Amino acid sequence: MLRNDLVKIGRNEPCPCGSGLKYKKCCMNKTSPKPVDMAKLYERKYGIRLKTQNDVECIRESGRLVLEALDLVERQVQPGVTTNDLDRIVNAYALKSHAVCAPLNYKGFPKNICTSINEVICHGIPSDRSLNEGDIINVDITLVYQGYYADANKTFIVGEASPDSQKIVSVAAQSLKAGMSMLKPGNTVGDIGWAIQNYAEGQKCSVVREFVGHGIGFEFHEAPQIPHYGRKGDGIVLVPGMVFTIEPMINLGKPELFIAGDNWTAVTRDRSLSAQFEQTFFITEDGYESLTPFEF
Ligand code: MF3
Ligand code: CO
Ligand code: CO
Repeated sequence: MLRNDLVKIGRNEPCPCGSGLKYKKCCMNKTSPKPVDMAKLYERKYGIRLKTQNDVECIRESGRLVLEALDLVERQVQPGVTTNDLDRIVNAYALKSHAVCAPLNYKGFPKNICTSINEVICHGIPSDRSLNEGDIINVDITLVYQGYYADANKTFIVGEASPDSQKIVSVAAQSLKAGMSMLKPGNTVGDIGWAIQNYAEGQKCSVVREFVGHGIGFEFHEAPQIPHYGRKGDGIVLVPGMVFTIEPMINLGKPELFIAGDNWTAVTRDRSLSAQFEQTFFITEDGYESLTPFEF
């Protein structure tokens, strides 16, 4: 049954019961409206494809492989290792696991993973650049396994951390946690963004606007978009069956960015450090589960 307080429907919009009448002329004031098929409603209204329990188990399996690949990478993060080395490690793991690295050839992306160092916000392309003591590096891995996508990333500190790198990595991690604290049916996409922005800006850091979290599972990037800034109560209401990422990109300085000459690498305009953490989440009847759970 449709709970009026969970799904905001305009008075003059078509009634979700499918009668063809305006909502105000139909179920709006009825105490027991016809049951609504939430999957159909969300697909029609927002293009969001809710996942079944079976879909979720398949995405979780893909997520397990992503976590394993992130662990393999983490063990190799040390001075002298190149980002191409990390790319090869993940590619070999994917091959062995009968999975596919989603980034390769995605809109022309040339490598298997994204490796974003220091002032690079996201979409860094693996290269012969080797890691130096004190660098921070985000490694973002998306795998497709038996047709299902899962997406996660972590930022690592290479060797000894400077106070600045410690701060930005910690604020990015806590920003993801702030977003996660909003994950339950009845809260909105705007609540997630608000919690992240409120926390990150409270730490005198800034939130990147140009890149957002996203629905995922059947494809790499599905509806809805999940901005990492926003206002309480704005946007789409979270309902059970939604699967999406939260992946706040947090800058130590200002939020503006530019895209490098390779047309992918996003860099902070003021060249300040940037960090990010990402997981894939599933909204349950009373909260959420991470399909790519890791401690951080
Ligand atoms: N994994 C990134 C995300 O979190 C997307 C990378 S797109 C690519 O959405 F083409 F750069 F791989
Ligand atoms: Co993502
Ligand atoms: Co990602």
